[in-house]
Amino acid sequence: MTANLVLGVGSVPLLESQSDVLILPGWENEEPQGGLASADQELGGWLGEVGWRGEFRGEANQVVLVNTLGHLASSRVALLGLGKRAEFCHNRWRNAVATACRVLGRHGLRTAALDLADVPLDRAIAAEVAAEGAELSCYRVGLYRTSGRRDDALHQLQVVGAGEAALRRGQVLGAAKNWARDLTNEPGNVLTAPELARRAAEMAGAVGVACQVLEQPDLERLEMGAILTVAQGSHTPPRLIVLRHEPEGAPAAPVLALVGKAVTFDTGGISLKPAAEMGRMKGDMAGGAAVLGAMRAIAELSVPVRVLALVPAVNNMPGGSAWMPGDVIRAMSGKTIETISTDAEGRMLLADAVHYARSLGASHVVDIATLTGACVVALGHVASGLFGTDAALVEAIRRCGEAAGEPHWPMPLLPEYRELIRSDIADLKNSGGRTAGAITGAWFIREFAGETPWAHLDIAGSSQLEKARAWAPAGPTGTGVGTFVRLAEELAAAAAGAAG
Ligand code: BES
Ligand code: MN
Ligand code: ZN
Repeated sequence: MTANLVLGVGSVPLLESQSDVLILPGWENEEPQGGLASADQELGGWLGEVGWRGEFRGEANQVVLVNTLGHLASSRVALLGLGKRAEFCHNRWRNAVATACRVLGRHGLRTAALDLADVPLDRAIAAEVAAEGAELSCYRVGLYRTSGRRDDALHQLQVVGAGEAALRRGQVLGAAKNWARDLTNEPGNVLTAPELARRAAEMAGAVGVACQVLEQPDLERLEMGAILTVAQGSHTPPRLIVLRHEPEGAPAAPVLALVGKAVTFDTGGISLKPAAEMGRMKGDMAGGAAVLGAMRAIAELSVPVRVLALVPAVNNMPGGSAWMPGDVIRAMSGKTIETISTDAEGRMLLADAVHYARSLGASHVVDIATLTGACVVALGHVASGLFGTDAALVEAIRRCGEAAGEPHWPMPLLPEYRELIRSDIADLKNSGGRTAGAITGAWFIREFAGETPWAHLDIAGSSQLEKARAWAPAGPTGTGVGTFVRLAEELAAAAAGAAG
């Protein structure tokens, strides 16, 4: 749920802006310079008295509001801490702008202005990231609150020194991520597999990407035994959502396939999860949401490369017809799988979807999934686990994540770990037990990627923020969206470079 934010290029010098508030960045342990110093001069030196000789220390994400008492066209200035200059980067800037926007909105201020002159980043990056941060700041988790909701968002931000294109790009990225966060926040009774498919189709129609939704009979015809098996315990039928971004004039190769796990609710099935906190498993479709959000932005930004999105969506339930531990399943690829745990369902969906992506002609396959509790133990709610068979692809994803403010950390896929999912009765088993759980999960999916360059992101932890931060509420993060948009752009640039 996101308020509408209007972003514009500031057309007058910052101090002449008529906005409710001027955002003035300042550094920790530094004398005020630039815009902050000019504003102070304009106000006769008293900004310093109440500001940096008062409570403002310039620490990262500190916001101090000061009334201008009629001395400026704006009634307030907001001193915004950027922290220590040596530690500054585009990701800090995104968080700082988002923090400022959230604080200002909560104070009932609706319009703000900002000048990029003092921000030591490439100008286009500074503008894009500011726009994205501002857009992200509008995200709210209270989807279904019918009372006590008040407008606490910023409505307009003018960015002096920005270009239109950079602002638009940042806003597109932020809005796509917010949309993915909303999907992730939807409860299991609302966001069923058919409903997710409906929303994907609606989005696809709006941005102009082709959408095909495979239903149960289609999955049967394709012999997608792994997806069908997970779905069989639920009254809600499965879907496989397929989106195609095929821009005119894009080269035939590469074809990037993005595959996102969408378990609309994961009870664990017959291997039932404990009751405490099971409700969190409404977010077990965050990978699918990230893929859909990325496709939305990729289409809106007309990235000149072919991208396929595959989102297998099911509800994992116990019941009279549910799959059971011990069951042996034949996946679309022909490989047989012994079920150790019906709670290891995500890798089953990915087995068929990754195989299908290759059969559709993908040259690069990247999957994203809330796959394992083990990954949460390893990396907490900060970084995603990053795995893959292609060093260049893995490094590209890491780099794109760094640019997007979505940290992904490389994990080992050593051949020694493959033994843990060896089965006596079938080609492999779906759980390798307690040790190296994130790695054996990745190894399982790898078995279906064949020789195609493949990478995997385990976002079980990184898809959710445990505790609210200054720039974001606790809840879905939308991680993956920004990474995938940049990855598509990198592939497009590489293909254009190779074509000369
Ligand atoms: N959706 C869960 C993983 C998960 C756990 C996501 C915590 C977010 C937070 C996944 O389907 C699952 O249950 N994985 C099992 C795998 C095991 C049975 C091999 C797990 O991690 O326990
Ligand atoms: Mn599970
Ligand atoms: Zn799951």
